[in-house]
Amino acid sequence: MRGASSAGAPGIGDADFPEDGNGGYDVEHYTLKLSYDPATKRLVGSATVQAEAVQDLTAFHLDLHGLTVSRVTVGGAEAGFGRQGDELTVTPATPITDGARFDVTVHYSGVPDPIRNYANLGTYGFIATADGSFVTCEPNGAKTWFPSNDHPADKATYTFEITVPAGVTAIANGEQAGPPVTSGATTKFVWREKHPMASYLATMMTGKFDVRTGTSPAGIPIYAAVDPAFRSTLDSLYTESGRITDYWAGVFGPYPFSSTGAVLDDYSAGYALENQTKPIYGGFSPTTGIMAHELAHQWFGNSVSITRWKDLWLNEGFATYAEWLWSEHDGKASADSVFRAYYEKALDPMWSYPPGRAQRADLFNNSVYTRGAMTLHALRREIGDPLFFALIKKWASTHRYGNATTEQFIAMAQQVSARNLTAFFDGWLFRTGRPAATI
Ligand code: TRP
Ligand code: ZN
Repeated sequence: MRGASSAGAPGIGDADFPEDGNGGYDVEHYTLKLSYDPATKRLVGSATVQAEAVQDLTAFHLDLHGLTVSRVTVGGAEAGFGRQGDELTVTPATPITDGARFDVTVHYSGVPDPIRNYANLGTYGFIATADGSFVTCEPNGAKTWFPSNDHPADKATYTFEITVPAGVTAIANGEQAGPPVTSGATTKFVWREKHPMASYLATMMTGKFDVRTGTSPAGIPIYAAVDPAFRSTLDSLYTESGRITDYWAGVFGPYPFSSTGAVLDDYSAGYALENQTKPIYGGFSPTTGIMAHELAHQWFGNSVSITRWKDLWLNEGFATYAEWLWSEHDGKASADSVFRAYYEKALDPMWSYPPGRAQRADLFNNSVYTRGAMTLHALRREIGDPLFFALIKKWASTHRYGNATTEQFIAMAQQVSARNLTAFFDGWLFRTGRPAATI
């Protein structure tokens, strides 16, 4: 209804995370111009969000947790703004019309406050470390360091201009636009991620780092960085990241991004995260199994992204299954023997948690990982290797750089195999109880 007062919704429409993301627009690009001082832990700067309105907008929301907003402009003109919880409401001087492109710049500063709200999700978001920052945002921690449409359903490209004290390295997604520039006591690093990225995969790792760059045997650029405490593992982290990325390109289809890599810090969040182009590892030198998991996410999760959090098995089930494939490739346990060992655990709690329905406060439940991976292996047994691997490649290529749902995966599996797999997927993904299988 053109002309009528219409504010964008405060959430993007994920039933489990109703306040995450926002309605009324699609983000195309984020430009984050940020300074961070590890000594004071203060982040200062601006975020420019370029978006396209999908309705008339008299006002719209961004997600932002903590931090102090000093000024907001839309199209260069001063805009009104308000804060309520983790919602930043922007009222442009002139309403935006449906279909129009617009840009909003938010100037802000403060000491980022990571999220610890859910016992099973740990601490996430922008986390200060002794010498910098460790930024791991799944599922909704991007809002702890930049105003965003903080939900994977709205992917965008990014430019990061990060200024840190001279001697500190700043690492973000994608590739560097040029060498870092030092002027006086600070150094500015510019990074660009030119492929669409979910907000939870955006990162800005700062601190003392030893860096190695080059290309994988197949020619994919690699950027690997380690905290000096892990100096002795830089070469293996670099080499294995390239080798594993190349291997997955053979199994899943062409690598979707312009570089691969790894960042290993001495801080531990208790898990690794598949940050686009540069997974982060913390506290210990990762096994190749963990790296195989995080690098498989570049295809499953990062290039093909979920549309709603309840479909998280499309990320974690696939990445866990990739660990089993890697184990077999590496001369260790075969995927089939891993599957059988789990299947024999008749009393495992995963049988009472349907993995196709990840739950809000327990998104990373073991069932989403292990039973999710078992679903794929059971499917492979059901339709045979040629169709299974053709399906996995087709899934990666059809939804490359986009978003997808479990229903779309099931439909594609049925189409590729020319079989009705409703009962199969129902038992593996949506029902409690251990599905029947021939072992
Ligand atoms: N996505 C990560 C991985 O499996 C895991 C992860 C992210 C996680 N955030 C978490 C696990 C919080 C437990 C709690 O690669
Ligand atoms: Zn994972």
